[in-house]
Amino acid sequence: PRSSIGLIMPPAADLGRALCVITGASRGFGRAVALDLCRLVQPGSALVLVARSGADLRAVQAELTESEAGRAGLKVEVVAADVGKLESLENIVRTSRDVFNDEMEKIILINNAASLGDVSKYVKGFTDMAEVDAYLSLNVSSAMCLTARLLQAFPAHAGLRRCVINVSSLCALQPFRSWGLYCTGKAARDMMFKVLAEEEPELRVLSYSPGPLDTQMQVEARTKTADPSIKKTFSNMFAQGQLLTCEASSAKLMKLLLEDKFTSGEHVDVFDV
Ligand SMILES: NC(=O)c1ccc[n+]([C@@H]2O[C@H](COP(=O)([O-])OP(=O)(O)OC[C@H]3O[C@@H](n4cnc5c(N)ncnc54)[C@H](OP(=O)(O)O)[C@@H]3O)[C@@H](O)[C@H]2O)c1
Repeated sequence: PRSSIGLIMPPAADLGRALCVITGASRGFGRAVALDLCRLVQPGSALVLVARSGADLRAVQAELTESEAGRAGLKVEVVAADVGKLESLENIVRTSRDVFNDEMEKIILINNAASLGDVSKYVKGFTDMAEVDAYLSLNVSSAMCLTARLLQAFPAHAGLRRCVINVSSLCALQPFRSWGLYCTGKAARDMMFKVLAEEEPELRVLSYSPGPLDTQMQVEARTKTADPSIKKTFSNMFAQGQLLTCEASSAKLMKLLLEDKFTSGEHVDVFDV
């Protein structure tokens, strides 16, 4: 960012006093992002962690509240809910309102929860509209509606910076055989967040592609993928130690947030940070 007299500003040392809402925070990339945000926000901040598994979420909550940042006045709330359901979105917004206070200067929403969908079949196998609808509901509609609800609950005003992260993928840009649902969902999300960035110039919007991560989703990718060459690519990446850790990828996202130089709405890949 540039100052009003045109000087290039150094990256901020922290993310200020913030409300952070993270979906899919119980494991994998979302958990790593929660741990990083907890260290980078100022005392008086709050984190709202969302996933279906209450037990896993509470384990992350305990880790955070027992950390140094937690002891220094960070509030961590959990919402054990399926983001594909309307009442869950209401619950997330209610919890976010409850922990928000006027001293907070930033809101960061991390739309991270996702599913891979059925990768054991090709596009020609998706004859059941209900299956496709259910996939898109969880992976596209829920991110759109949660973002919209939080933007309405916390309208733009001077002194409040609002930032929405879409956890994206290379699959938003490139077709992968037998990954029809996943590629479609990620492409739709990228476009939706580009439109949002055009509509709300004050908002900071980023589609971040975290790279191939050593998580449960990768296990599914290398064991269930129908297309033999795609399946082999993922098995080889695992066998040859080419997967990134969630911590390494989350560190790159934190760098982007601290520098705050990205063009709103753009897709940024971990390997370009
Ligand atoms: N892994 C990769 O190689 C890779 C590559 C590119 C992009 N990504 C993206 O990175 C993000 C995180 O992926 P990951 O690899 O960390 O996946 P993961 O290990 O499968 O974790 C997914 C997270 O989302 C939560 N979740 C799933 N369905 C949910 C639902 N209906 N409601 C609420 N929470 C739900 C899960 O918790 P519960 O099961 O407890 O609900 C979990 O916390 C995703 O957006 C993924 O598409 C991953």
